[in-house]
Amino acid sequence: MLVGRRVGIVGSGFVGATAAYSLTLLGTCHEVVMYDIFPDLAKGKAIDIGQSTSYSPQGTIVTSAETPSDMKDCDIVVITAGVPRKGDMTREDLLLINAKIVKTVVLDIMKYSPNAIILCVANPLDVMTYVIHRLTKWPRNRIIGMAGALDISRMAYQINKKVGFGPGQTRAIVIGDHGQNMIPLPEISAVGGIPLSQLVGKNDMDEIIQKTKEGGAEIVKYLGTSAYYAPGRAITVMIQAILDDSRIVIPSSVLLEGEYGYSDVTVGVPVVLGSSGCEQIIELELDSENKEKFANSVASIKEGIKILEDNGFFE
Ligand code: 2OP
Repeated sequence: MLVGRRVGIVGSGFVGATAAYSLTLLGTCHEVVMYDIFPDLAKGKAIDIGQSTSYSPQGTIVTSAETPSDMKDCDIVVITAGVPRKGDMTREDLLLINAKIVKTVVLDIMKYSPNAIILCVANPLDVMTYVIHRLTKWPRNRIIGMAGALDISRMAYQINKKVGFGPGQTRAIVIGDHGQNMIPLPEISAVGGIPLSQLVGKNDMDEIIQKTKEGGAEIVKYLGTSAYYAPGRAITVMIQAILDDSRIVIPSSVLLEGEYGYSDVTVGVPVVLGSSGCEQIIELELDSENKEKFANSVASIKEGIKILEDNGFFE
């Protein structure tokens, strides 16, 4: 059980800072500790966000850690560190670079916040979440990848645009990897409790699926950088569920141990989030088409893991 409400955020770029800001706006936790390999970045943003809290409904202490040892005894640590793919970088290069960054961060978390729940936001998301499992060997409930929370909010956005009803009553669901093979499931999504299939036709469904899958890329196209408001908010929703022990169902990337017929792989599936992290994995009954899509998704994640294994990353 959690005894405090101290959240560490590793990486003070757009995603980390937006998550911190969103946490303070909602008063989700008692303290946010920000860390970055560039200490001035963490420091400047922590001061700025801290100065915004006098208008928040609930005070949140915002501090920065100069060194990894300053970010200690956190209940939850969010890992947003990592570099985006650019220039002539191959997928393999990116995987290796980010896996090394995540490794450094994880070793510090094991040392200074050994009881934390880790929320992974580093990309490629599912493989990086797997890396954390292999390095920590912690119980699987304490390592959760944030992707589904973002992808379902993107899907809900597309659904709302299509049906024209007010937001906040749409329950979308996306499983699989946080990439090309993600699987939006309109057949079990609903608006105000009404199945989506009773509100939109097949073409609209297909468009919702496509636009959800392209959600991240669309923003990169306009901004030249990855999204951060929706990711920051999605991180906050997950943290709130854990700290409040609200046991809400959110698709998240977790380690499968036989569920859905797979083991030793992290992939997005619906989970129950509560005070011990991932408290339950819900096994959906998938039809044969979705089973095949899920198999492709798992295969793409396993490919990434194999690249790390072939390069001796886990030795
Ligand atoms: C996104 O989907 C990059 O994972 C980030 O926007």
